[in-house]
Amino acid sequence: MLIVQITDTHIKPQGRLAYGRVDTALFLERAVAAIGALVPAPDLVLLTGDLVDSGGADEYDRLTELLRPLRAPLFPVAGNHDERSGLARAFPELAARVNGNPFFQYTVEDWPVRLIGLDTVLPGSGAGELCAERLSWLDARLSEQPDRPTIVFQHHPPFATGIGHMDRLGLTGAAAQAAVIRRHPQVERVLCGHLHRPIQVRWAGTLASTAPSTAHQVALDLRDEAPSAFVMEPPGYQIHAWRAETGIVSHTAAIGAFDGPHPFFKDGKLID
Ligand SMILES: [Fe+2]
Ligand SMILES: [Fe+2]
Repeated sequence: MLIVQITDTHIKPQGRLAYGRVDTALFLERAVAAIGALVPAPDLVLLTGDLVDSGGADEYDRLTELLRPLRAPLFPVAGNHDERSGLARAFPELAARVNGNPFFQYTVEDWPVRLIGLDTVLPGSGAGELCAERLSWLDARLSEQPDRPTIVFQHHPPFATGIGHMDRLGLTGAAAQAAVIRRHPQVERVLCGHLHRPIQVRWAGTLASTAPSTAHQVALDLRDEAPSAFVMEPPGYQIHAWRAETGIVSHTAAIGAFDGPHPFFKDGKLID
């Protein structure tokens, strides 16, 4: 089972650049082309939030258009730049599944690894929240199938990263989420976005991580007083590959035109 994770695509309306500088639509086009060229093809694509930049309907229309070439089913969660209603319009089949739940949360049951999408949005804030209602929903879902490998995916990471300005946009309820996750050892990963760079940590008895943005990255600055800044480091995405014998093995891929691949040679001989 191959799971692709893309995140923080930050799509703007036609003709607009993110922060006056980043053509996020062009970057997403490149990401979609890179994922479309993967062999073997992924089974599904997770989108861990900040899919558009301001939550506008025109942005979601553009996002849908840009994602159309992907043949694998798409499973989004909302980030602090998203609007739940816009997300629901862009993904009507999923929205039907989350009906009756005030939050955009759902499970995916169709593959060996079970997936649980969580809604960490706190409307009007860049920070995130997991309230008691959302966490009791998570606890109930995890209690249903204790023996099945499970991935939880959400926008805001529940751990501090050391990048001061991002940690100040953290997740209220993270300690309570840790208590829930700790009770359910079948959770293999908590996959997040928001940080615009790949970060991993052992957390609540599992592995929690963030993924690179398909466009701009948050500057790697581990000072508490780090100013809010982005850099145009190579964009990327992640592949979480599951096999019964190995469990989940996670890869980070850079998106771009790079020299190679070249064979490995030593003294004129091919080596492996
Ligand atoms: Fe973002
Ligand atoms: Fe975010």
